[in-house]
Parts: sequence; C-alpha cells; structure tokens
Amino acid sequence: MLKSFFNKREKGKRRQSESQSDLNPNSMKIRFFGGKGGVGKTTCSAIFACSLAEKGYRTLLVSTDPAHSLGDLLGVNAQKVHKAAPGLWVKEINSEEANENYIKEVKGNLEKLTAPEMWKEVERQIDLAKNSPGADEAALFDELVKVILDAQGTYDQVVFDTAPTGHTLRLLSLPELMEAWMDGMMVQRRKSQDMNRMLSNIAGVREEEPVDMVFDILQRRKYRFTMAKEHLLNPVTTSFYFVLNPERLPIIETEKAINILEKHHIPIGGIVVNRILPEHADGQFIEKRREQEQIYLDEIHEKFNRLDKVYIPMSTADIKGLEEIKGMTGLFSHFNNSEGTKENNP
Ligand SMILES: Nc1ncnc2c1ncn2[C@@H]1O[C@H](COP(=O)(O)OP(=O)(O)OP(=O)(O)O)[C@@H](O)[C@H]1O
Ligand SMILES: [Mg+2]
Repeated sequence: MLKSFFNKREKGKRRQSESQSDLNPNSMKIRFFGGKGGVGKTTCSAIFACSLAEKGYRTLLVSTDPAHSLGDLLGVNAQKVHKAAPGLWVKEINSEEANENYIKEVKGNLEKLTAPEMWKEVERQIDLAKNSPGADEAALFDELVKVILDAQGTYDQVVFDTAPTGHTLRLLSLPELMEAWMDGMMVQRRKSQDMNRMLSNIAGVREEEPVDMVFDILQRRKYRFTMAKEHLLNPVTTSFYFVLNPERLPIIETEKAINILEKHHIPIGGIVVNRILPEHADGQFIEKRREQEQIYLDEIHEKFNRLDKVYIPMSTADIKGLEEIKGMTGLFSHFNNSEGTKENNP
C-alpha cells in the first residue's frame, strides 16, 4: 500500500515540476508545528508565524489542538479568524463544533432523500456515527482541509499549531484512510443505483434519471481531500517542524515521529530545540543541569544531523502576550530566510 502511495506521489511530483504555478515561490506555504505535550509547540509556532508576518507574508496561525491555548497565549478570542497584528491572523479550530456542523449538514442532505417513515431510524444511525470514536478527529480534518483550501489566494503562509504528536500523526494519516473509505462508499453507491435502474427496467418504469445527490456529495468531499493531500505531500508547499526540549523523552518521541512522517513522505522542515539553559544562568544546580543538557544537545545534533535547527533559550518566566512573542522573532530568522541548512548554534 505504501508502495502504491509512493508511486502516486512520484507521479504527482513529476506533475508538480511540470507546472509552473506549483513551483511559484509566491504560492502558499503550509507549516505544521508538532511535538510532545508541553514542549512549546504553541509558543514556537506563534513566534514563527509572527516572524513571517514581520517579513511581509500574510500569515494565518491556526490551532488544531482541541485543548486550545493559542488565544490565551496571545490574549485574543480566536474562535473566528482574528487579526492579531499587521499581517498576522489567528484561528482556533473547534472540532466538536465542526462535528456538530457536519452532522447537521449530513442530516439536512439525507432528510430530503429519505422516506419520512424511515427518517427516525436514519437519524438515529447518524447520531451514533457522530459519537463514534474518531468522529471529532474526522471533523477536525475536514476543518483543516477547509482552512487550507479557503486560505489559498488570501494568505501566503499558514502555520498550524498542533496537538501532541500522536493525535497529529493520526490526523495526517486520515486523508489516505478517508479517501479509501470514500472510494468504497462511491462504489457501493454506484452499485445500488445500478440495481435500482435494473429493477425499474424490469418493472417497465421509465423515469427521468434523478441527480444522485449522495454520490455528488461523496465526490465533492473526496475531491477536497485529494486536493488537500496533494498540498500536504508537496515538499514545495508543506513542511513539518518538530519542537523538542533537550531531554530524553522528547528526543525519543521526535525520532519516532520523524520516521513515521518520512514513511508517509511528509516533508520535515526542521526542528526547534526549545528551553535551553541560557548562558548567563549560573549556580551549582544549573551547572549540573547544563552538563546533562549538553549530552542531549549533542545527541540532538547527531540524531537530527541533516535537519535545520533553531535553538530557543529558556525564559525566566512563561512566555505570553504578543509583545513578548514579537521580541523573540529574530530567533527564527534562520528558518524563514533560507532553503539552506546552516545552524544558529546556541
Ligand atoms: N523557551 C521558553 N522559556 C520559558 N517558558 C517557556 C518556553 N517555551 C514555552 N514555555 C512555557 O511552557 C508552557 C508550555 O508551552 P506551550 O503551551 O507552547 O507548549 P505546547 O507544546 O503547545 O503544549 P501542549 O502540548 O499542551 O499544547 C507555557 O507556559 C509556555 O509559556
Ligand atoms: Mg499547545
């Protein structure tokens, strides 16, 4: 399965390189920030997005984490797209609300197609599906696709602040699953339509062929996922940044996650090593920690040798508010400047 996926991607790659518009350096870029819980994904994605806005890119910073903290970090209400600074807009995707809205839409569409005596049962089945495991995630992915497609033409850069690694990896493997699932649904739908047609012919009923709304909806949905998948797998437009701390578990988790993303051919943009002890910190305790930290920094250097890296020092207190974020944008100049691979060592 991975092989055929890879072949598709290779073909896609060739198509892209033939298409001038996809290679246009002005085409919209998508960046994901992922990593273990609490390592600084929200903080670092906000600093990065802010640095892009300062460079003149129209930047949309989107949180896909169901436990949002982006609005709190910037002190804004981001339930709807909110302009936080010149060139910077922020938005929190609400997966529960997205799920509700999606179910409402499905009900609206299906009610028109269902015999009234059947509706109660159909509605019950839809409600069960809404509460089934993975439904919020599927709705979240739907919203993510919507954000990507709607952002085209409006923004130059979309930066996603994601939920801790496991959740995000599942989210990114959804397009493949959903495409396959929708292919199956569409085949079933075609079969049942053919059967109906055959029965009508046998019964001698000649009716005008009705527009198949269900098939139409499935096809549109599949098209959207395919478009989003092409975006997400295009190294010209998409890259994934990992945030980690110089500690044992974040290093292990990042290594595993990078392997999974590479298997799915999702391009890795670089890593952000956050919360490094600042040079001016002193004292016996800090010195001990620094020794330990250096071991992990060496390990990071070795393990992620070929990836771009940015190093962020630990602040004396939590980072919050736009002004503080703005004060740190210089740390990210390395990422948004270059296609190169130089490091700004700590
Ligand atoms: N370099 C830093 N120096 C000091 N505090 C930091 C630094 N980076 C992040 N923090 C603080 O650590 C806490 C967690 O950061 P943040 O919310 O960005 O992590 P996260 O990875 O998004 O967490 P979650 O997995 O819960 O979404 C916040 O209180 C933040 O202010
Ligand atoms: Mg966060």
